[in-house]
Amino acid sequence: MVKLTPSLLAADLLHLGRELEEMQETGVFRLHFDVMDAHFVPNLSFSPALCGAIKRQYPHITLDAHLMMDQPLLYLQAFAEAGADMIVLHREALEDVRPAMDRLRSLGVRRGISVKPGTPAETLFPFLDCVDYILVMTVEPGFGGQTFMTDQLEKIRALRAAGFAGEIAVDGGVNLENAADVCRAGGDVLVMGTNFFRAADRAQVVRAVEELA
Ligand code: DX5
Ligand code: ZN
Repeated sequence: MVKLTPSLLAADLLHLGRELEEMQETGVFRLHFDVMDAHFVPNLSFSPALCGAIKRQYPHITLDAHLMMDQPLLYLQAFAEAGADMIVLHREALEDVRPAMDRLRSLGVRRGISVKPGTPAETLFPFLDCVDYILVMTVEPGFGGQTFMTDQLEKIRALRAAGFAGEIAVDGGVNLENAADVCRAGGDVLVMGTNFFRAADRAQVVRAVEELA
């Protein structure tokens, strides 16, 4: 079954509580939490403090932290202690994937790995046994509201063909038009920023995703 994970980046940050309550009213309890350090990507976003504030107020929301950082290993404990349930690290920021994934496991969080559009699926093949989920970027990371890169669907197919049976999430430019292609390729988690939080009718977006399943 395909799952929807709204991306906080596109929420109305001055009314965060209301945004997250409305999200839960639509039956969605998983939130994509983008962390940007202005080095790995040319933008800045959210901190462990905000992660903790959300978890304390809304403990039923599964927090999926996407660390777009040059030095993610320095912050794993901070995000785990703040209540991140899942942490996804970029392949490009890691010299050694396996020890990083072991560290995530020892912190008690689900282990994710992500690849930018230019990083081939094959770079993940040696690690398919030590990750719980893969996040395939379908835009260059750093900003919401960009256009979905259709050529990345092949990467999802390659990961499935290589035998990966865990969740494959897709992040960047996902909308109700390309969601069906994502699912057909083998993706089962749709990260949606702009096309969820800025939709005229969010409940209708949730229903449309449920119908894809
Ligand atoms: C981009 C972020 C995405 C972003 C997606 O670097 O990783 O999670 O919020 O936003 P949309 O859905 O607007 O492309
Ligand atoms: Zn993201």
